[in-house]
Amino acid sequence: MEEIGFLGMGIMGKAMAMNLLRHGFKVTVWNRTLSRCDELVEHGASVGESPAAVVKKCKYTIGMLSDPPAALSVVFDKGGVIEQICSGKGYIDMSTVDADTSSKISEAITSKGGQFLEAPVSGSKKPAEDGQLVILAAGEKLLYEAAIPAFDVMGKKSFFLGQVGNGAKMKLVVNMIMGSMMNAFSEGLVLADNSGLSSQTLLDVLELGAIANPMFKMKGPAMIQGNYTPAFPLKHQQKDMRLALALGDENAVSMPIAAAANEAFKKARNEGLGDLDFSAVHKTVLGDKQ
Ligand SMILES: NC(=O)c1ccc[n+]([C@@H]2O[C@H](COP(=O)([O-])OP(=O)(O)OC[C@H]3O[C@@H](n4cnc5c(N)ncnc54)[C@H](OP(=O)(O)O)[C@@H]3O)[C@@H](O)[C@H]2O)c1
Repeated sequence: MEEIGFLGMGIMGKAMAMNLLRHGFKVTVWNRTLSRCDELVEHGASVGESPAAVVKKCKYTIGMLSDPPAALSVVFDKGGVIEQICSGKGYIDMSTVDADTSSKISEAITSKGGQFLEAPVSGSKKPAEDGQLVILAAGEKLLYEAAIPAFDVMGKKSFFLGQVGNGAKMKLVVNMIMGSMMNAFSEGLVLADNSGLSSQTLLDVLELGAIANPMFKMKGPAMIQGNYTPAFPLKHQQKDMRLALALGDENAVSMPIAAAANEAFKKARNEGLGDLDFSAVHKTVLGDKQ
């Protein structure tokens, strides 16, 4: 790939763009809040004054935005991607959005002759920093092939899932499962503690059994300390539960566990925990016993 544009310097975008720089890619970045580009500039990135300016300069541009309104805004608002996309250029949206949002963006980009790929990722801040993401791509196969050198730097494995929407759907299914697991885990931690058991011993027992998993292992120790420093913001996990439930609606799939988990994340947001890590749903289960 030639020079790569990168829109969105949040937790994930910053780590991913930094990785590209570290591996010798030339990167031009843009972020709504400009100051968040500073660290990237220190590491050799250029800054574009708008998404359109970045697309004008770069053959390929990646977006990593918070949610559907943000992903749409960066493409369609004044100074957006759509103003400069044209034949010979590609846009890769790595944000977690629903299939409809992705399709809207795809149609607009391709109608101007550009190529589009959705490529949401599985993996959080640390895997993003370490280039260990799992990339769930769908859309223009030629753009996928062109992006492989960059995907190889950002991720440990890429999947090409076919038509636009399939990457978005796969990502929502994964995060629906993850959000439900996090709620069950939080309830288990509180149930053990309130029953007079050691939370640390529960973690040790879980680690040795059939339901051991990297998420419990990584998040558990911090959760029992009440440390919810954001790697994956809770507001984004709740967005993913909401979008996954809508996908369940469309497909008439009954998902009572996911619906309950969504309610728990909504409650946590209502309590002002949206910018903490999604494991902060544990804090709502703890209730007064914090
Ligand atoms: N964190 C994770 O563990 C993780 C893992 C997998 C996937 N994801 C997904 O990856 C995406 C980014 O996540 P993140 O954790 O990096 O989120 P984040 O730290 O909250 O960053 C969000 C980014 O979106 C930008 N943004 C928000 N609203 C915007 C708007 N209206 N117009 C333009 N830019 C806007 C923010 O710009 P400002 O700086 O100006 O606010 C920021 O650059 C989300 O879709 C999330 O679900 C996250």
